[in-house]
Amino acid sequence: MAALLNDFDLVLFGGGGDLAMRKLLPAIYALSGNKVWPAGARIICVGRHDWTREQYLESVEQNARPHVPEGAWTDERWQAFLSRFSYVSIDASDPGSYRNLAQALRPGQDITRVFYLATPSSLFATICQHLADNGLATPQSRVVLEKPLGRDLDSARQINAQVGRVFDESQIFRIDHYLGKEAVQNLLALRFGNILFEPLWRREWISDVQITIAEQIGVGNRMGYYEPSGALRDMLQNHLLQLLCIVAMEPPESVTADAVRDQKLKVLRSLRRFTPHTLVQNVVRGQYRSGHVNGVPVPGYLHEPDANPHSRTETFVAVRAEIDTWRWAGVPFYLRTGKRMADSLAEIVIRFKPIPHSIFAQPASSFQPNSLVIRLQPNEGLHLNLMAKTPGDGMRLKPVDLELDFRETFKKPRMEAYERLLLDVLRGHLTLFMRSDELEQAWEWVEPILRFWDQDENEPVPYASGTWGPAAASALIGRDGLQWREEALPEV
Ligand code: BG6
Repeated sequence: MAALLNDFDLVLFGGGGDLAMRKLLPAIYALSGNKVWPAGARIICVGRHDWTREQYLESVEQNARPHVPEGAWTDERWQAFLSRFSYVSIDASDPGSYRNLAQALRPGQDITRVFYLATPSSLFATICQHLADNGLATPQSRVVLEKPLGRDLDSARQINAQVGRVFDESQIFRIDHYLGKEAVQNLLALRFGNILFEPLWRREWISDVQITIAEQIGVGNRMGYYEPSGALRDMLQNHLLQLLCIVAMEPPESVTADAVRDQKLKVLRSLRRFTPHTLVQNVVRGQYRSGHVNGVPVPGYLHEPDANPHSRTETFVAVRAEIDTWRWAGVPFYLRTGKRMADSLAEIVIRFKPIPHSIFAQPASSFQPNSLVIRLQPNEGLHLNLMAKTPGDGMRLKPVDLELDFRETFKKPRMEAYERLLLDVLRGHLTLFMRSDELEQAWEWVEPILRFWDQDENEPVPYASGTWGPAAASALIGRDGLQWREEALPEV
């Protein structure tokens, strides 16, 4: 039976923002139904608006409640959840206003204090400094930092250093919600809880790896955040690289935080750095134009509300990466992500090498090489694609799927990524969070791309909404004689 959490004060900076309403508050609500939830849990939301508690709760009702899954909502639990809230109005950069927060916090060693900074990362250092100056950052405090942390290597280093002056590394939780996804943890189980794949998990047997996070949604009402970020800062530097690390890392000696983070760090260090010359061939950036998603007409990025009509911000990025280690030398890792794509899915495809010789009448070239698809969303599961004989006379082989659907197999309620990660923060478990050196390595790898794009005269390549991105992304993988998975799938 899991141990009860210590009583806590969870201070949510950016408590009125989009992330808090869509993800964090619904996750905290879900946690409030967990057996480990303590009677003395308090949630202190901090925002710029000069709201009363009632006004804030009205906004929670309007904006967060619709994101609580139907089956999980009961009036009684919702009211109990709301009763734990207080609201404090703070101007994050005004040291004086932190006095209001001091009054809302409970003193005492038995209370865990969590400062969750769901704000732009440019405010992280200031907030931490003011917390320290007001004596609020106690030894039993933790701080959670949302991604993207910084805009480039330099700013990330500065933030790490400044936050590090207030909090010890063991108190800092740099969040990447992809690491909290059930299927990502299942990838750890698949790799290190089974003997089957490990001998094959290397250059001798794997031809290439594809990692895709595609979204049908556009930038929506997040233009203020997205325009200066783009797909590279929003998705590639963090989510995609973290997935790549979990696929490519060497077996850690245990799942303790540093054991796992040491191995991920080695992968990031071994990623081949781009030069302006290699960049042109290995990186594609795109921007969506109008089109149809699920049959519904949608505007292009430049015509979204509050758009800059001359924006060069990329909404799609595809990269061919290489890892210079004995295990992975010569195996391309294709990463891609985009908004307004043909489908919403996140998956990792491991493609094995072709058979060396056919003993059947069919030539070896007609055999589809085996592949393992790890589906993160929707429908988390594993698909192992094998060749099998079709029934009947003769020896005709065709590809078939061995499928493991996690929802079907484990008929248990799921934990959303933020729910699991918040629970880890409250328990003080750091394994699923990024360490400062890991984060800086990830920035170091993307930095040449950022610098090149800043000076590049070419615009991002346009692609129609509702497609799989620009043709240049197909050409990128096509140069190796390969296709993205959806392009290679037979018509049904
Ligand atoms: C966030 C990005 O980190 O991840 C968003 O800022 C993106 O732009 C989201 O939409 C995707 O997450 P998920 O869990 O919906 O795949």
